Amino acid sequence: MGIITGGVGFFDSGLGGLNVLDACPFLHSSFPVYYYGDNQNAPYGNKTKEELAPLVFSAFDCFAKLNACAAVVACNTVTALFIDELRARYPFPVVGTEPAVLTAARRGGEVLVLATNATVNSARMRALATRAEKSFLDCTVRLCGCGALAGEIERHVLDEKYDFTPFFPKGRPSSVVLGCTHYAYVKKEIADFYGCEVVDGAEGIANRLLSLLKTLPKPTGKEALSYLPQKPSVFPSFFTDEKRLEKGRKIKKFRWHFPLYFLGSGGLQNLNFHKRMFVFKTNGKKVVKKSQKF
Ligand code: DGL
Repeated sequence: MGIITGGVGFFDSGLGGLNVLDACPFLHSSFPVYYYGDNQNAPYGNKTKEELAPLVFSAFDCFAKLNACAAVVACNTVTALFIDELRARYPFPVVGTEPAVLTAARRGGEVLVLATNATVNSARMRALATRAEKSFLDCTVRLCGCGALAGEIERHVLDEKYDFTPFFPKGRPSSVVLGCTHYAYVKKEIADFYGCEVVDGAEGIANRLLSLLKTLPKPTGKEALSYLPQKPSVFPSFFTDEKRLEKGRKIKKFRWHFPLYFLGSGGLQNLNFHKRMFVFKTNGKKVVKKSQKF
């Protein structure tokens, strides 16, 4: 069985982009999704642009082979460094991820943006901070690179006892903006640590993607690609949890219109993690989410 072409690509260094995918339940009824996670090379945030370029372009070449109708860079770091090149190089529209600094700045006070070092040092991020300060004179934007945090989350997110707070920079901001998609997994810990509102951009990205997809024809599901250099891990459109069935527990079934394909060096890992965090929500303490509609 081939992989259905014409879907929507999601790209992140690892687990972080699944937060963005989870904010897009409208995809399930209309488009196949290719989640490309490069977990074996994560974290990206301490790498140079030269080191990242081949990794990023091989993910997008894969979306191009699959004739993707659109792609989401579900990664602030890659958006900050590559979004213009990706838009120029590929035939499909590319939606980027940008920290919701303007949303937070509107409320005034000190806006603390937590992001990877690469994002914080990028010209794009600095321009956004300056724009926010110019547009809202009663706000200051503080950009903070949390060097090791994304990698720690990648490794320890399922460990409920793990303490991430040593990786949070000190401060008393009026609001915190999440500038890395991995950080959404520790949103509650961040809110408790700073005692203020934490702003996440995932819904903004979902809205941009939704308006874009409304302008595109839906795939028929008839065209499939039989060969890709890497075999995808597939979360099927009709899914029964066999283990629960064996144990005589309540059977859960999910019906999506198209399968969700997991590609990249973290294929199987991301499939299992997605199932656990977002489908069965067996680690509900970490992710505070609205319930997903199937
Ligand atoms: N999740 C990514 C971001 O939003 C990258 C984190 C990393 O790999 O360092 O920046």
